[in-house]
Amino acid sequence: MGIPPDLAPERIQARLRSRVIGRPLEVVGEVGSTNDRVMAAGRDGAPEGLAIIADRQTAGRGRLGRPWASPSGVGLYTSILLRPRLPASQVSLLSLVAGLAVAEGIESVAGLAPLLKWPNDLLVGGKKVAGILTETASMESRVSYVGLGIGINVRHKAQDLPEELRASATSLRLAIGRELSRGELAAEIYNGLDRWYREFSDGRFETILARGRERSAILGSTVEVLAGDQRWSGLAVDLDADGALLVQNGRGELRRVVAGEVSIRMTGAGVP
Ligand code: BTN
Repeated sequence: MGIPPDLAPERIQARLRSRVIGRPLEVVGEVGSTNDRVMAAGRDGAPEGLAIIADRQTAGRGRLGRPWASPSGVGLYTSILLRPRLPASQVSLLSLVAGLAVAEGIESVAGLAPLLKWPNDLLVGGKKVAGILTETASMESRVSYVGLGIGINVRHKAQDLPEELRASATSLRLAIGRELSRGELAAEIYNGLDRWYREFSDGRFETILARGRERSAILGSTVEVLAGDQRWSGLAVDLDADGALLVQNGRGELRRVVAGEVSIRMTGAGVP
């Protein structure tokens, strides 16, 4: 399976200013899931920073076991291998680190200002344009490596989006009315991730959280928290030090919502 011109690895490499992320870079025509590929590479001892891009995935995965439709020619599907030297308790912040890098990459290439919908979605005009899937391999309580998967709807026309998602999802093309290079976008994201990952590795968590709060689509809004068969509403108040969401329930109690098996539905602004 060939590699389309907008994903030509030499063009992506020419745009890289990163020290770690995207070095090495592997671009393939087709793969099951770039996350599976990067986790297998992690197991085999591949270096931190390895990035894999596929033109198409046959078994793309989203959060909560959902499929991630990954047709050829339209989406950016990439995964990056990280080997954080920090305790597992801080690793959940990596989704925010990735979210900031993706949002800034989209901003610089498309001129849009995506907002972050905790914990892993990026929204443009209230619709989902990208998602992040963070997978961790741990030994005892230590993190051995992390696969950071990023899926972005780049060149999709409405009919390229799964029918059931057309009301709630969009693409960069639909938002700005022109076609972008997925490779150019990938390079910008790797450059930004390189900077944000350095902040993370140096322990500057407050800087990351502050920018995450500024970019949040949900702080100050009423949200519905869905965890298994439980659902409850509250006011999304803040991000905690480890990136957990702090939600005030109807009785005025502050509850910590930890990513994982949880999803959030936005229901409006103000007090529940
Ligand atoms: C979500 O919103 O649920 C997360 C979607 C993550 C999709 C990306 S595409 C590249 C990488 N490979 C996968 O199989 N999934 C992630």
